Amino acid sequence: RLRGDPTKRAYTYLILGTTKFIAASTIRVLILNAVYTMSAAADVLAMGSLEVDLSNVPVGQSATIKWRGKPVFIRHRTQDEIEYARKDDDAPMRDPSPDALRCPDPEWAVFLGVCTHLGCVPIANAGDYKGWFCPCHGSHYDLTGRIRKGPAPLNLEIPPHQFLEGNKLLLG
Ligand code: FES
Repeated sequence: RLRGDPTKRAYTYLILGTTKFIAASTIRVLILNAVYTMSAAADVLAMGSLEVDLSNVPVGQSATIKWRGKPVFIRHRTQDEIEYARKDDDAPMRDPSPDALRCPDPEWAVFLGVCTHLGCVPIANAGDYKGWFCPCHGSHYDLTGRIRKGPAPLNLEIPPHQFLEGNKLLLG
């Protein structure tokens, strides 16, 4: 028979095509496996979210916890503090944002404890606005975590969180 017998062409291409398909699938799996070894491992993912018991934070107190390697400020605000924070909503600010938006559950303020200037950790209950004060270059944050004075360009970041039943807070 001649090479490339036209009557066998479809069969030959079917075999060739199938082989190439299997080869491509195998290569894809090998590459993906190699790439996935570079993404986060199970022990890291397990630390990704954190449950915090809020009953340990009495009214008027702040707590600092560590989450994903960063401090998170949790403040149980008093009624006075909530009023003070909301009254300030109209004050001129660099990064205006109403208190009701940043603290939908007004009793609780939850912020990343990382100054938006150069990343220092602000001090609780300090500064001119009763909130947090960053000692590195003097940024004053109010009780809503908004930047009021100093070099920081933005308000304190709000980490992803939700309130669970039984006075618990889930971070992440
Ligand atoms: S790092 Fe906070 S003011 Fe500069």
